[in-house]
Amino acid sequence: MLEKEINIAPSEGKLGVLIPGLGAVSTTFIAGVEAIKKGIAEPIGSLTQMGTIRLGKRTDHRVPKIRDFVPLANLEDLVFGGWDIYEDNCFEAASKAGVLDRSLLDAVRPEVEAIAPWKAVFDRTYVKKLDGTNVKVGKTKMDLAEQLMEDIDGFQRAHGLKRMVMIWCGSTEIFMKVQPVHETIESFERALAGNDPAIAPSMIYAYAALKKGIPFANGAPNLTVDVPALVALARERQVPLCGKDFKTGQTLLKTILAPGLKSRMLGLDGWFSTNILGNRDGEVLDDPDSFKTKEESKLSVLDQILQPQLYPQLYGNFYHKVRINYYPPRGDNKEGWDNIDIFGWLRAPMQIKIDFLCRDSILAAPLVLDLVLFMDLAQRCRMHGIQEWLSFYFKSPMCAAGLYPEHDLFIQLMKLKNTLRYLRGENLITHLGMEYYD
Ligand SMILES: NC(=O)c1ccc[n+]([C@@H]2O[C@H](COP(=O)([O-])OP(=O)(O)OC[C@H]3O[C@@H](n4cnc5c(N)ncnc54)[C@H](O)[C@@H]3O)[C@@H](O)[C@H]2O)c1
Repeated sequence: MLEKEINIAPSEGKLGVLIPGLGAVSTTFIAGVEAIKKGIAEPIGSLTQMGTIRLGKRTDHRVPKIRDFVPLANLEDLVFGGWDIYEDNCFEAASKAGVLDRSLLDAVRPEVEAIAPWKAVFDRTYVKKLDGTNVKVGKTKMDLAEQLMEDIDGFQRAHGLKRMVMIWCGSTEIFMKVQPVHETIESFERALAGNDPAIAPSMIYAYAALKKGIPFANGAPNLTVDVPALVALARERQVPLCGKDFKTGQTLLKTILAPGLKSRMLGLDGWFSTNILGNRDGEVLDDPDSFKTKEESKLSVLDQILQPQLYPQLYGNFYHKVRINYYPPRGDNKEGWDNIDIFGWLRAPMQIKIDFLCRDSILAAPLVLDLVLFMDLAQRCRMHGIQEWLSFYFKSPMCAAGLYPEHDLFIQLMKLKNTLRYLRGENLITHLGMEYYD
């Protein structure tokens, strides 16, 4: 029996993509979309563009592409705008980031060169390694939020946008914990007006987006929207939000491998992960306070997947270490090493070594695209608050208070696809499969 289909508003007109941070990830995303639109590149790594979804029984042979199954915005309808503390336009920033081939970048030059950053809301207290001049001035943090809302209004008017989505691709801010001013919308707004240090710049962007009814996704590990006040604001304004920290590179592999080891009941003595990278992200993470934010995000994954409390003999005592080393010659071409000490039958020790020569922004760009399209879909389905079905994309998925986040990539994918089936009134797939043998 089919479930009831949700009424999804059509994806008519232009979709504005608002991006705080025109750096390596976001320029690789924007230039990539422009190249795909021209038919000179392929959207590898994007579930919305390449993925399929099985519907019904295996014998039904119904496997449409996801983008044909749910009404997503077309790439032709995306319009990009963003903020940065540096004045470089998107072409200059992409050239400096050095991720994409020069020939590809030249092919999309007119489109990406036209995207110049608006002045940013920035404060070095929260990102110690950066210092730019393209920065707004305001008496209070509330003034700055209002200036961001004016940028958003101007962008909407200039391009005749029907809908917008904001995705944080800015640098990782210093480690912060939830504080009393983050508890309610009222205390948060008082803190904005009173320039409270507990309000980081990323929170000001998020506040501006939510106030305007714009979905917000957080690609960095910063606290940002993961505070009760902003979750409440999202519910009040009926806006979806999600985060935190794009799951790429080493953590992606960790959440692929760890569920496999656990499903075979193989034990773990230790997992040592180290990285060398030389991009601006690496430089920012060279500051211990920004690294702490990233470290917390990267460390949380294994405990949640392996559940040591349920399997004390296998996972009660493993040592987990994550290091990031800033090494300029590498640029965006990160190298991540993992040494994994596991044990099997009769506690015999074994080792796994991984050397992942990955391209951080190449792995992150398709996630930005998927998140933009799915967040817009969520908005048109009137889904609001935390979008746990998008955990698939994050290292530290946001979830309801009192719940633990789901980190296993395969459970996350099942959750995502079942959410899409649910939205279209299709039966959820449980993989029980008894009916094939009746
Ligand atoms: N590349 C990946 O695989 C990956 C994975 C997970 C998370 N991330 C996170 O995504 C973010 C972007 O990564 P990146 O490699 O593009 O970094 P980047 O340093 O190349 O770009 C970040 C940009 O944000 C700008 N910025 C900083 N603070 C800002 C502010 N308050 N307002 C506007 N702009 C601001 C910086 O000037 C910079 O241009 C980082 O936080 C990174 O940790 C990246």
